Amino acid sequence: MHTVNKTSSYFIELEEKHGAHNYHPLPVVLEKGKGVFVWDVEGKKYYDFLSAYSAVNQGHSHPKIVDALVNQAQKLALTSRAFYNANLGEYEKKITELFGFDKVLPMNSGAEAVETAVKLARKWSYEVKGISQNAAKIVVCENNFHGRTTTIVSFSNDPDANNNYGPFTPGFIKIPYNNLKALEETLANDSENIAAFLVEPIQGEAGVYVPDEGFLKSASELCKKHNVLFIADEVQTGIARTGKLIACHHENVQPDILILGKALSGGMYPVSAVLANDEIMNVIHPGQHGSTFGGNPVACAVAVAALDVVEEEKLSERAEELGQLFRNEIEKLIEKTDLITGVRGKGLLNAILINDTPESKTAWNLCVALRDNGLLAKPTHGNIIRLAPPLVITEEQILDCVAIIEKTVLEFKRN
Ligand SMILES: Cc1ncc(COP(=O)(O)O)c(C=O)c1O
Repeated sequence: MHTVNKTSSYFIELEEKHGAHNYHPLPVVLEKGKGVFVWDVEGKKYYDFLSAYSAVNQGHSHPKIVDALVNQAQKLALTSRAFYNANLGEYEKKITELFGFDKVLPMNSGAEAVETAVKLARKWSYEVKGISQNAAKIVVCENNFHGRTTTIVSFSNDPDANNNYGPFTPGFIKIPYNNLKALEETLANDSENIAAFLVEPIQGEAGVYVPDEGFLKSASELCKKHNVLFIADEVQTGIARTGKLIACHHENVQPDILILGKALSGGMYPVSAVLANDEIMNVIHPGQHGSTFGGNPVACAVAVAALDVVEEEKLSERAEELGQLFRNEIEKLIEKTDLITGVRGKGLLNAILINDTPESKTAWNLCVALRDNGLLAKPTHGNIIRLAPPLVITEEQILDCVAIIEKTVLEFKRN
């Protein structure tokens, strides 16, 4: 019998042939993960510096989260919300108390949670604020990334995200990111028809753009002044990634609606959430929104364990401290090379800027060289490389990774 040699190229060819080509993965095939490390099918070990786009903040295969998943899967996985289940209430109590909201609405993916927040804000605007039917507008930012549904790509300005996917959902006003004047003018011009301002506290996908200090605070105050909801999409920045439980806490901002996903489950399972106080959340009544899988027993058990890990292992504090160290070390490297022009970020959500055009292959080739040296990262928007390890990384490991990055950068030859 012909036996297949299951090397990386075998798995890559299978995906090429049978899978839609909606991603362009770095050529490495992973089969195992533990903490900050992943291993490929040939047994080579790597530092994971993407963390599944900041979903695996608690590290790969965290024993506490794995236990929660396995135990609950063996007991009861799914009931739908047609019945109560013995996990949802305790999870709801935990997440609302931890983040300081009256209520949570559980969903699965990040995009679904953003959709939920959009629907919630619109409904609130008609039923509480008193906007006339179908006139509600939501202010969003240029270069946003909130997911891939038809409505969400309707307010993207990335041609890859929305080209040929129209007709689009109306009702969104786009303003430049980190621009208080534009927000102020937009709200002042049409405040009676504006339901919400939807913003990423740091733009992750766009390339880790950190807004000016005070932007979030002032933006939330402007929203309050105009009776407009401040919605924070913390799908990528939340759950300790930036050095606080949510990035809004850097400026003592409590959003009106908070969107979480990714690391809410430690990357173990698709779990997302929308949090708000009663005045907002109570506009949704039975039958008016939902999801078969949202709030299922496995999701709840996993999320409780994942949040426990964040608290018990002080992941916010670790991210804050080690992020500072990482940026300082990269600043030193920048003095020795002209390949990197800058480093930016907060906590352990960082990016380095590669000295070439977005169209060039330089950042991609550098990621391939990093892979060869045992560290996995991926470019975003051509010439930016996001560097976001699991938050359980130690100081010694961070320094080891800086050494890998330094060696790779200094030996790198542009094609
Ligand atoms: C800020 C933000 N919102 C929403 C999403 C979408 O999440 P998902 O891919 O789980 O739908 C992402 C994903 O990267 C994100 O970064």
